[in-house]
Amino acid sequence: MWKITKFDIIDSTNTALKQMADAKHGTVLVSSHQTGGRGRMGRSFSSPHGIYLSALLIRQEAPSRLLHLTAMTAVAVRRAILEASGKNTQIKWVNDLLLEGKKLCGILVEGNADRYIVGIGINCNTDLQALPPEVRSMAATLQCDENTLLQALVKHLMIMDAELLSGQKAWMREYAQNCITIGNEVQVISAKARKQALALDVDDSGALLVRYPDGREEAVCSGEVSVRGLYGYI
Ligand code: BTN
Repeated sequence: MWKITKFDIIDSTNTALKQMADAKHGTVLVSSHQTGGRGRMGRSFSSPHGIYLSALLIRQEAPSRLLHLTAMTAVAVRRAILEASGKNTQIKWVNDLLLEGKKLCGILVEGNADRYIVGIGINCNTDLQALPPEVRSMAATLQCDENTLLQALVKHLMIMDAELLSGQKAWMREYAQNCITIGNEVQVISAKARKQALALDVDDSGALLVRYPDGREEAVCSGEVSVRGLYGYI
């Protein structure tokens, strides 16, 4: 059984779980407020009120076999939101969930040896005015029962964990079916350059397949890809 510990306030559920060296597989920390929420690329993640959850997965497979973990987490969270609130979200590669084009959820997966911390931040009954001005206009919130959503999240994370390898193909198909990035012009942003490309597909490892104007194709698995001109927060 997974073990859920709830907090009213915490620095960061990812950070706290990382510090719990003896924590077992299926340990879940969840808080309705974070003072030091962390996002991808070293950014902070504003967490005034919502569902901020971290789950520990201890997996023995080689990391190269778990590259799709972030993408599968997006599918699990999407399923949970649909079940708990009836809302259909879309996935922006690689790890954001959007509601009507605005960011509803971010995912940060951090791995160290065989320990993977799956961090999920969802705006739920969030006062969007409490978010920093620069993200406010790009953010959406769910209005739903937080406990119902929490139960659905844990249920779908458990299913994901059970099907992480055996269900990879089917889950990644579901990912691609709900990924708004596919078919759009994107910018492939690396430390060195920004290149425009067309997003073609997402492969089974979660890499984004893009085609550049010169016809060259590439599978992008790290760095940042943004959808151009469609969504305000990019
Ligand atoms: C992102 O959008 O950049 C990812 C945001 C991930 C936020 C979640 S909230 C729960 C967990 N604890 C953190 O400090 N971060 C993750």
